[in-house]
Amino acid sequence: MNKQEITDILSDNSKNDWLFKKADETRRKYVGDEVHLRALIEFSNICKRQCLYCGLRSPNKEIERYRLSKDEILDSVKKAIKLGYQTIVLQSGEDDNYYQDKMCDIIKEIKKHDVALTLSLGEKTFDEYKAYKDCGADRFLLRIETTDKKLYQQMHPNASFENRVQCLENLKTLGFEVGTGCLVGLANQTIESLANDILFFKEIDADMIGIGPFIPHNQTPLKDMKQGDFWLALKVMALTRINLLNINIPATTAMETIYPQGRLIALQSGANVVMPNVSEIENRKKYEIYPDKAGVYDDEIEFKKKLEKDLISIGRTISTHKGFRKK
Ligand code: 5AD
Repeated sequence: MNKQEITDILSDNSKNDWLFKKADETRRKYVGDEVHLRALIEFSNICKRQCLYCGLRSPNKEIERYRLSKDEILDSVKKAIKLGYQTIVLQSGEDDNYYQDKMCDIIKEIKKHDVALTLSLGEKTFDEYKAYKDCGADRFLLRIETTDKKLYQQMHPNASFENRVQCLENLKTLGFEVGTGCLVGLANQTIESLANDILFFKEIDADMIGIGPFIPHNQTPLKDMKQGDFWLALKVMALTRINLLNINIPATTAMETIYPQGRLIALQSGANVVMPNVSEIENRKKYEIYPDKAGVYDDEIEFKKKLEKDLISIGRTISTHKGFRKK
């Protein structure tokens, strides 16, 4: 689709049913009925950045900070493997305590197991990304958040849009499977810029796209802003599926958080991935990017059982392999 076609669909709600059905058919045709599960370990909520929307931003002095040791991370990894997960996602704030050699050490230990490893650690140098890749990391998640440069600069003090794009290009060059994505519903974000986001995902040939509604956090400067609209976020996700075809798309936790059955609705509107949280419950509470995050109190075993049942009820199965992008 071109920009005009995407904008037209985003601004007209009369064809939503058609759109979600089309995205679901596209998902089925290109990536099938299997749902890939990625076990998420949030290993540090310490962050040097000041992203206006995020509860982990460094000026937020109200949250209790934590960081896991290598052994604690490896314990979570073993727990995830025992639960049957074949992809581990290590996510943190931008925490320089995990300097390159320390991170590489952790990556190498994890890759002794037969799992795919995704990192989500923020902006690093080319050499750092290269070191992670050389140690065996397979994928990297770094959302562009918005392709509206002016909005990007407003939302990210002391950061640069150009560097963000450069990081994504570097990750691609290094051979990572690259995940990116955007927030939907930031103040001053236009429909046109959301169309540009989708075109950007295609242009950089992203392998995974995570899309979520903006949820205001009380301990950030955006606390009084309006929450993003579930259906608009779902439409951006559906259009991403229709335009990028064979990529992996998670049903994001933010969608599940703001709308009842949001995860299952997303899985029937283009998504094919779920990212269950396997962090310790104590830490999940502290990893408060936005409030009332879904799944914070879920028991890992019960969650998986329930998910399996839910997936069967919508004609889907849990994948039995690592779920790299289908080429
Ligand atoms: N609401 C929704 N999503 C958020 N993120 C950060 N803060 C918020 C918020 N307030 C998302 C960003 C980031 C991801 C890890 O979480 O898109 O990339």
